[in-house]
Amino acid sequence: MKALLLSGGKGTRLRPFTLTTPKPLLPIANIPLITWQFEFLRHYGITEIIVGVGYKPESFKKTVEKIAGKMKIKTHLSIENTPLGTGGGFRNAYPFFKEETEPFVVLNGDVIGDFNLNQIIAFHREKGADITIGLTKINNPSSYGLIITDSNMGVKKFIEKPKTEEIVCDTINAGLYIFTPEIFSEIPAGKNISIEKEVFPALLKNGKKIYGVIHNGYWVDVGTVAKYKQTNFDALEGKTGIYSIRGQGDNFLAGDNSVLKEDVQIKGRVIIGNNCVVGNGCVLEESIIMNNTIIRDRVVIKNSVVGTDVAIENDSVIDNMILADKSLVRPFTQPMRD
Ligand code: GTP
Repeated sequence: MKALLLSGGKGTRLRPFTLTTPKPLLPIANIPLITWQFEFLRHYGITEIIVGVGYKPESFKKTVEKIAGKMKIKTHLSIENTPLGTGGGFRNAYPFFKEETEPFVVLNGDVIGDFNLNQIIAFHREKGADITIGLTKINNPSSYGLIITDSNMGVKKFIEKPKTEEIVCDTINAGLYIFTPEIFSEIPAGKNISIEKEVFPALLKNGKKIYGVIHNGYWVDVGTVAKYKQTNFDALEGKTGIYSIRGQGDNFLAGDNSVLKEDVQIKGRVIIGNNCVVGNGCVLEESIIMNNTIIRDRVVIKNSVVGTDVAIENDSVIDNMILADKSLVRPFTQPMRD
């Protein structure tokens, strides 16, 4: 079975980091997000993965090849020359699926979840579905797309960004789908179109059989910086299920060639990337520091995410900050106090 990863978005909510690195290539516990997805798919025997890209495709080329080589999986980039959205990106990948007769998996490039893929595929076959959508339950679905199903889990309705009175269920689209290859012919080529907001409702109206399967395990879409930070900590703590490539229930992780000088205090959960230096007497608390960052002496970093190639000079206090790649923080920079 093949899989398609939809990885072409600009990731605007994860700026400034996505200005330099596309979201699927940002590190989660020091491993590119896309590796976690490859690992999930490989766990279920999928060893041929098409990655649909549009934003900064050149950054994918080298990284994807390197990861795929190490993991012994086959990958192809399906490149979109103009922004096509999730539906257009899906349609653009058709050449890689045109020989397929079997259902295949589609996964959003920003989702980590320990879905039971075997169960979802079995359900798809049993129902003779055209599309099966992985669903997850969420407390406040107002900023998501609600999916309403009947007692057989047949999808009845899609409601985007529901108003309070429209919230009649708590199941949302989890960004994992099983498709039958025939669906390609239902989507116009070369058009910017959303799979979740336009393609699915139109297909439902046209009588296609769309089902949902509720996933009760770990699930996150790494959409915002706050969620990015949380996902890193979840991975560190081994909460992400089968993806726990790295997390062993630790609270601290430092990447290759990183050096902590004397009297460094680590409080709460802290992740440091590769090739970093943390100076004497620094305090790091509940923070993520990406690769190649130099932190001089007596610096405090708290509740923050620090990008790659950053330099933070002596006696600075970084508190509740998002520091872009290549930032230079001069000595004694700190939040205002009374
Ligand atoms: P925001 O700009 O912060 O909303 O992020 P995003 O661009 O990633 O959009 P969104 O979170 O809605 O996208 C969900 C998934 O679809 C992500 O994995 C995106 O990479 C992917 N995606 C979004 N737009 C495209 C596109 O035009 N082509 C492809 N191939 N994938 C896309």
